[in-house]
Amino acid sequence: MNQNELKKAVAQEAVKYVKPNSVLGVGTGSTVNCFIDALAPIKDQIKAAVSSSEATTARLKDLGIKVISLNDVDHLDIYIDGADEINENMEMIKGGGGALTREKIVASVSKQFICIVDESKVVKELGRFPLPIEVIPMAKESIFRKLKDLGFEPVHRDFTTDNGNCIIDVKGMNITNAREWEEKINNWVGVVTVGIFANRKADVLLIGTENGVKTVK
Ligand code: 5RP
Repeated sequence: MNQNELKKAVAQEAVKYVKPNSVLGVGTGSTVNCFIDALAPIKDQIKAAVSSSEATTARLKDLGIKVISLNDVDHLDIYIDGADEINENMEMIKGGGGALTREKIVASVSKQFICIVDESKVVKELGRFPLPIEVIPMAKESIFRKLKDLGFEPVHRDFTTDNGNCIIDVKGMNITNAREWEEKINNWVGVVTVGIFANRKADVLLIGTENGVKTVK
């Protein structure tokens, strides 16, 4: 199976978690796109979705699924999203697609975070994938310098987020204490969101492997 087939398999498995007449939170990325495609046969049973990006909103609407504002619900039962890396504690690096802030907001009000990945995303230690940080444009050089002073390798991404902000991708981090790093970087003035998802980590992990989909809870 190639990587795309693994993504499709895991997306298909995630559909089983969607309850009839529910409002679901939907993440962003190529694995989530497979999930949205897999919703087609049950789309009439879905009350609505809360989306984490303009790209996901467009895809959901194309399928005929109603997209509502997060402000119209007080919680979500499930949030389904991919990850760039996930470790055995269910902590993640996210934001490869630049949607980390909205993803973190939607995840924060969801009872269950279901993470869908192919096996290449499962790691022992977070940090091989460059860590995305969404920053206010005015602060992009000050945050960049701070990261360099700490001995990391920040790179400006040529990208504007749905929120009108910048992304810095940070290479050279070995994130052994994900919760601490998440809190520390989030506290820097000018940072909107760091792509470490440790305080609100995944509850269920579905991994697409050569031997089928593995479920970790
Ligand atoms: C987007 C994300 C995605 O979940 C992450 O980048 C994984 O994407 P893909 O499924 O395309 O590998 O965090 O901001």
